[in-house]
Amino acid sequence: MDLMEYQAKTVFAKHGVRTTVGEVVTTPEQARAAAEKIGGTVVVKAQVKTGGRGKAGGVKLASSPDEAEQKAREILGLDIKGHVVKTLNIVPAAAIGEEYYFSFLIDRANRNYLCIASAAGGMEIEEVAHTNPDAVAKISIDPATGVDEALAREIAEQAGYPADVLDAAAVEIAKLYQVFIAEDASLVEVNPLVKLEDGNVEALDGKVTLDENADFRHPDHAEFEDSSAEDPLEAAAKAKGLNYVKLDGSVGIIGNGAGLVMSTLDVVAYAGEQFGGVKPANFLDIGGGASAEVMANGLEIIISDPQVESVFVNVFGGITACDAVANGIVQAFELLAGRGEAVNKPLVVRLDGNNAEEGRRILDEAGLAGLERVDTMDGAAKRAAELAAK
Ligand SMILES: Nc1ncnc2c1ncn2[C@@H]1O[C@H](COP(=O)(O)OP(=O)(O)OP(=O)(O)O)[C@@H](O)[C@H]1O
Ligand SMILES: [Mg+2]
Repeated sequence: MDLMEYQAKTVFAKHGVRTTVGEVVTTPEQARAAAEKIGGTVVVKAQVKTGGRGKAGGVKLASSPDEAEQKAREILGLDIKGHVVKTLNIVPAAAIGEEYYFSFLIDRANRNYLCIASAAGGMEIEEVAHTNPDAVAKISIDPATGVDEALAREIAEQAGYPADVLDAAAVEIAKLYQVFIAEDASLVEVNPLVKLEDGNVEALDGKVTLDENADFRHPDHAEFEDSSAEDPLEAAAKAKGLNYVKLDGSVGIIGNGAGLVMSTLDVVAYAGEQFGGVKPANFLDIGGGASAEVMANGLEIIISDPQVESVFVNVFGGITACDAVANGIVQAFELLAGRGEAVNKPLVVRLDGNNAEEGRRILDEAGLAGLERVDTMDGAAKRAAELAAK
């Protein structure tokens, strides 16, 4: 999960990194009030989860509340690389001496952490990396020993930070490493890390990516989730712990296991060509343990997508045998009817693998309205596409 700048700086502050979080606003009037409160010259900064905000006109100085309101009006609604600005961060203008680049990230190829740092920070860092790669230091970090202030100072030195900021930079770098580790981040980037005119070193910008696999360790990270940006059904699926992805065709797809689900998408798209280009509407991976409740939740999400005309349930029984899945489907129909959301779209089910015979028998005996059983994957895909085309 990527954080917005003000969220990243909030996390920095929590670990004692020198930074200024400022005020978060969503209207020009609020921007004026924030500028009044802060006093003096402020910077109005677009909060979007993409880089290059400054170059796109999303970072502007304002020397009065009037001007802050006007700049906010210009920046709100701006489209920065496909991200529309809805939130602004109003911060006091810093007296910048110099700008540096600093980051910690995961180096997957070397199974290590990596620090990238340069004395040539600021908005041209990408350019510097191309034209003058020697100005950018890349330093491997051993996760077992980490980064203390002594190593942080060596890093700053290797990056070419001037001698007079090494001590102050080392303090901030060691704390940024704490952010990286303690928050389970996969990226902590500060561009620019600045030397202020008074000699202090401050994180003026922040980009943080949190590892969602570690969310269970960080209940406080939930507040960073931006549910407004998500598809409502994807959000509902996520809340129920299901992997659901919205596509734009008309066949809803439920399968168990990522590999089977991916190949189901291909098979449905291929079969759909015979019916005027019918395509998958979405897909949902119910994973290994397809209990009745998981099946009910999955079906509920799939059929509440208004684009869905038919549903293809493709299950290969493994550890969870087909009879358990079949019982899950039968109970899901009951559960959904109980919730007042009876399955009202045709369903094609293909069961194969462990205990397929028993699973098929259970479905046949249940005689569920709108449910058809087809025993081959190609045949079932074709039938689902045909039903969607009707
Ligand atoms: N509080 C501030 N005071 C003075 N100048 C600032 C302040 N914040 C940013 N700036 C200036 O604006 C430039 C761009 O700001 P910032 O780094 O936050 O955005 P960006 O780098 O363009 O965005 P991104 O990092 O998303 O690419 C900085 O390099 C700095 O020169
Ligand atoms: Mg920046």
